[in-house]
Amino acid sequence: MRAPTPRRFGGSALAATRQPAGSSPAPRRVLRIALLALMGALLAACVPDAPQDALDPAGPIARQQDGLWNLVFPIAVGAFVLVQGALLIAVWRFRQRPDDDDTELPKQVAGSTKLEILWTLIPAVILAGIAVPTVAAIFELAQEPEDAMQVRVVAKQYWWEFEYLDEGKEGVVTSGQLHIPTDTPVYLTMESLSAQIPDPGGIEPKEGQVASGVIHSFWVPRLAGKQDVMPGGVENLTIQADEPGRYEGQCAEFCGLSHSRMRFQVIAQDEAEFNDWIAEQSETQDPGDREGLAAEGEELFDTTTCIECHAIRGYETPEGREADIRIGPDLTHFATRDTLAGGIVENNAENLEEWLRDPQAMKAGAQMPNLGLSDDEIEALVAYLQSLD
Ligand code: CUA
Repeated sequence: MRAPTPRRFGGSALAATRQPAGSSPAPRRVLRIALLALMGALLAACVPDAPQDALDPAGPIARQQDGLWNLVFPIAVGAFVLVQGALLIAVWRFRQRPDDDDTELPKQVAGSTKLEILWTLIPAVILAGIAVPTVAAIFELAQEPEDAMQVRVVAKQYWWEFEYLDEGKEGVVTSGQLHIPTDTPVYLTMESLSAQIPDPGGIEPKEGQVASGVIHSFWVPRLAGKQDVMPGGVENLTIQADEPGRYEGQCAEFCGLSHSRMRFQVIAQDEAEFNDWIAEQSETQDPGDREGLAAEGEELFDTTTCIECHAIRGYETPEGREADIRIGPDLTHFATRDTLAGGIVENNAENLEEWLRDPQAMKAGAQMPNLGLSDDEIEALVAYLQSLD
């Protein structure tokens, strides 16, 4: 702790207020800091290849929405410049001057019908004009496209689950990373469910299950606009990507302590690559197929109660119990994802150890409990999880 600095003006608050405004260094410093902050904000908009740039659409849906922005933005800027310009001119022209007679009132005006009609009519015409393409786009984008790939999206605290529903893809469940084929519309059916209750699947909310869900918002800026996901409802959104690539997404509605860490990635692949990925994800794990640390970890998955929340398709305990509960993420092909903890950190041994040791430290409010695992247990579980490819 530093000792407080002695007051410069004899300790009187009054003394400070007597300084003529503008000559004291404090307001100038505030102005300089404000200008720097403004410049920083402006420069931040110039980052090339920003991963979440809604003005750099990467698919037809986002492009259509961006087209509306391109139409509305210049009109809005024009209106802003006209209105603010008129205001500034009025403030400058009719400012108080030293030789003004303060007793003389300005000329009193009691309204102008012509002006009032004009400034009501012009905005009304502009808004009606903008409404035509906007409303048309809203209705068009709300349609389910033909031949769309169907994915069920479940928002939980604080991660996203993706379940593939089409024939030949059923049973594939991932979290944090949504793989899609390029040039194919993907129709998302979204729900918000409580993270504490097992998810039995299907696209209708189950009774009792939605009660403790919260509002999330699904947003991949380069592929489509935001879609809020309400507890108790089913929401739809179509996304589509032109080119293979990685598109960053995030939850865009405050949903709790780790809202800002509720991220995900959409990974677009060309059709052949996507089909290979689906084939790989469709496979189940062989129980008892591992040796050494990974085999120890496989056993711990049951004995340290991971099995009470996580599914691993193909997993079986010696007593014949399957791992099919979907409270937490499905871990069947955990090692094929490159992020963990809801898309926030790289999926590597170090981060995984940290996560298992104390999930709350990495992601406050996460529903994953601290199981009080020993170092040896963590090491074995990491070996097992990393074998789930
Ligand atoms: Cu989920 Cu914010």
